[in-house]
Amino acid sequence: MTDLRKDFPILQDRDYIYFDNAATSMRPVAVTDAMTRFNETVNSNPMRGLYEWSIKATDAYESARAKVAKFIGAKSAEEIIFTRNATESLNLIAYSYGRAFVEEGDEIVVSVSEHHSNILPWQMVAREKGAKLVWLECAPDGSYSDEELAKIGPRTKVVAIAQVSNVLGQPKDIKKIAALAHENGAVIVADGAQAAPHMAVNVQEMDADFYVFSGHKMLGPMGIGVCYGKKKLLEKMPPFLTGGEMIEYVTRESATYAEVPHKFEAGTVNASGAVGLAAAIDYLENVGFDFITKQEEKLTALLMDEMSRIPYVTVYGDKDPSKHCGIVTFNIEGCHPHDVSSILDADKVCIRAGHHCAQPLMQYMKVNATCRASLYFYNTEDEVFRFAKSLAKVREELGYGS
Ligand code: ALA
Repeated sequence: MTDLRKDFPILQDRDYIYFDNAATSMRPVAVTDAMTRFNETVNSNPMRGLYEWSIKATDAYESARAKVAKFIGAKSAEEIIFTRNATESLNLIAYSYGRAFVEEGDEIVVSVSEHHSNILPWQMVAREKGAKLVWLECAPDGSYSDEELAKIGPRTKVVAIAQVSNVLGQPKDIKKIAALAHENGAVIVADGAQAAPHMAVNVQEMDADFYVFSGHKMLGPMGIGVCYGKKKLLEKMPPFLTGGEMIEYVTRESATYAEVPHKFEAGTVNASGAVGLAAAIDYLENVGFDFITKQEEKLTALLMDEMSRIPYVTVYGDKDPSKHCGIVTFNIEGCHPHDVSSILDADKVCIRAGHHCAQPLMQYMKVNATCRASLYFYNTEDEVFRFAKSLAKVREELGYGS
């Protein structure tokens, strides 16, 4: 672990404890170096110039696409669309697939533990098309019973569900939910933003129709995201954004569009971001998801154990640390999460506090806000102990007797 941490310049500042990895992760030198190399040697607009630099920039961008395809087990690189982030990918699917194929009276099944990014675009489609949102209610541990999943039925057109909740963790069996969706003629849109950084993903094995994630939560740069879609679906979908390079031919009155995936990539693309994401994938694969999962489980178990010794602390979700994917959401009785976060910040401990862009889940949990500590494989046991020590002081700092 000490060796791996050396790869992350920001983690050399030992004073800081960064436990907000579900919001964004840190970047190793391999990622920033790959981006610098791109910027310093071939930077030019991909897919436009007929000169050497532009051709090399195109190659770098398309190689990154091929790497992403392999990383998630897609059938071909044409099924990978680069976006800004998972949110943009979900909007792409809703605006394009949703608006084209959801009709009046159809149902869109959404889970209550979704991030707003996998709710709001579907609210928009439902409103516009006269479709109905059907909510899957989770158990307190964040899991979905067969009874709830039976709400996926013949009227369902889309099932929108996160593989891992950004509040409760709890990995879902996407393959099983995809099978239910398909039995009913629906498509499944799986949000992998909190899954892809932590576990091996195979979209063909899970039979996901759409799968999205962000680069910045898995060691890559901000501003690059992925929208995977089965080719046969992408081909029949209208463009999302229109403009440069997504066309085949344009006249004054109309246009025909490029083949997938370029049909969905209007304007100048984030080529250095894609290069950075490809380097992040190399790095993760080199570390290996076996190690990543084991390390995260070990740290989460220690964290939950330490927290269980601190009075007035409630940890939400599954009792089993291995079901948290590094995410530990909690509250301290009588303390507002923002106060908790500020007190921890004074000890240079970074956590997230608030509604985590998951307000329907907060309403279901009957809280306005929570604190969230989220770990990644580069965190350490020493950080967990220091976090717990800091947490144990919070109530006293807020004036409660010890
Ligand atoms: N979606 C990110 C989070 O959960 C930003 O913090």
